[in-house]
Amino acid sequence: MRIHEHKREPQNRPGLDLSGLDLAKLPRHVAIIMDGNGRWAKKRGLPRSLGHREGVKTVNRIVRIASDLGLKVLTLYAFSTENWKRPEKEVGILMDLLVEFLTNQLEELHRNGARLIVIGDYKSLPARVVGAVDAAVEKTRGNDGLIVNIALNYGGRGELVQAVKALAAEVKEGRLDIGGIDENTLSRALFTRDIPDPDLIVRTSGEMRLSNFLLYQGAYAELYFTPVHWPDFTEQDFVDMLAEYQSRGRRFGGL
Ligand code: FPP
Repeated sequence: MRIHEHKREPQNRPGLDLSGLDLAKLPRHVAIIMDGNGRWAKKRGLPRSLGHREGVKTVNRIVRIASDLGLKVLTLYAFSTENWKRPEKEVGILMDLLVEFLTNQLEELHRNGARLIVIGDYKSLPARVVGAVDAAVEKTRGNDGLIVNIALNYGGRGELVQAVKALAAEVKEGRLDIGGIDENTLSRALFTRDIPDPDLIVRTSGEMRLSNFLLYQGAYAELYFTPVHWPDFTEQDFVDMLAEYQSRGRRFGGL
């Protein structure tokens, strides 16, 4: 395991107000639906591609603050299985931005002890994306800091379908007993088998829906919606959101 040689103290960030936050009680896993890049651009009379490019800057900021605060997992919904419905040119730009992010940020992620993982059927994406993902996953494999989990070509229903198929195959081969299937068995068949369920699912830009994101894993997640477009979402917004999360009482069905 790597030591965090460059671990930064969030307390020393000028202009960042952490007074409302209990650093000892952070959620382990925050998952974000980064919405509103297009609307951010439209409001300014800019092409949508510039909204996405600005969105990557927010990704960089939020990964850094999540790492500095000591979160365990940050999941980012970068491309859904439904996003293929967008014009080919926009899909291409999103792929380019992903490759850029994975190449340009890799050194910094690695230096800060972050580990990159991916959920979703990313192997069917263009070869340049698959190559950049595999390289980033491989390089950061031994790190024990923030897990940056990118949801890529991901859809929650599709994930459940592939899990059911995998379990059915195990039953057919006699390696799994139907009576022995429980919630843990299903959890282990999901892309997220190695990470805890999200404590907090966030969506920016005002829409209040999950859009096929972490449907099984999010069963007890707190939900947080903000009207702020993703490119405008700041480190302070992230900190304030965590403080609001801490003010909620999670009961998991109990009293
Ligand atoms: C939603 O905005 C955003 C996306 C569909 C893609 C998010 C991707 C990035 C921020 C860039 C690449 C990701 C990483 C991790 C480097 P929208 O286009 O749906 O906005 P709109 O609803 O306002 O049109």
